[in-house]
Amino acid sequence: MADQNKNDRAAWLQGPSAQCSPLPEPSPNPCRLILLGAPGVGKGTQADLLHQRLRACHLSTGDVFRAAARQSECELSPAMKSALDYMRRGELVPDTTVWEMVRERSGCLRCGGGFLLDGFPRTVAQASLLMVLMENEGLKLTAVLNYELPINEIVARLSGRRTCEKCKAVFHLTERPPRAAGICDRCGGGLYQREDDRPESIKVRLEAYERSTAPLVDFYQRLGLLLPVSATGSPEAICERTLAALSARLTQSPTSA
Ligand code: AP5
Repeated sequence: MADQNKNDRAAWLQGPSAQCSPLPEPSPNPCRLILLGAPGVGKGTQADLLHQRLRACHLSTGDVFRAAARQSECELSPAMKSALDYMRRGELVPDTTVWEMVRERSGCLRCGGGFLLDGFPRTVAQASLLMVLMENEGLKLTAVLNYELPINEIVARLSGRRTCEKCKAVFHLTERPPRAAGICDRCGGGLYQREDDRPESIKVRLEAYERSTAPLVDFYQRLGLLLPVSATGSPEAICERTLAALSARLTQSPTSA
């Protein structure tokens, strides 16, 4: 069902000069979460469901790059053009480009509704920069959710993914099919297959994950922030599992939020 309260994330997707509509409502205890896990494990799907439950905003760095990819060539900065080439190949975009983009949007991290960071940080360098920025702003992470799934299921999820070109809702050809083939249930937009979901890019992305992103599991474990969550089962079951793990964590250490 469409989420009537879903905000358009304009300040995140277009940059700090744009204003979100509707503006997220400030929460007395905003959830500030990082969603970690291999490409295709279901982070975006969970971010969408968690947004409906926690109201925190879904901030995906991949979505910012894909929004930029829809602009005309001449509107793109040289750094963004180069970033999109990395993305198409399935490689990570260089840290300097990613950080510049996130730093520009740091207002979204201060948002009173909280945030669900999806796809960022992805390297230890990015995580260190984020930690310093949050410390300087007096912001605390609630937790880092680490979604875990066997590799064969990850590849099947990526190969069957279809995304709405308008509202970015995510479907799967067999696991979460739209009611009408090729058409988004939420907004009626057309569904497309992401360029980086081709087999050759999937292989590169999984290698990049193992090399550069998997070390973040230890990084956040050492900070006492890591919450492992099994990503098997239906998206709704995983979301309930996530909320239960979060609630147990907040009961144990209520000051961490
Ligand atoms: P990004 O957009 O972040 O992609 P990703 O991390 O590779 O993650 P995905 O979006 O592919 O997967 P997901 O885990 O969100 O899964 P989803 O919910 O869609 O980044 C893309 C690229 O941008 C990177 O490769 C890089 O080039 C660049 N980039 C972005 N951020 C960067 C950074 N910080 N540093 C450097 N470079 C960066 O689900 C997948 C499929 O499975 C869907 O079809 C879904 O319907 C289905 N599904 C979900 N849950 C279930 C379930 N429980 N059961 C069955 N099917 C399910």
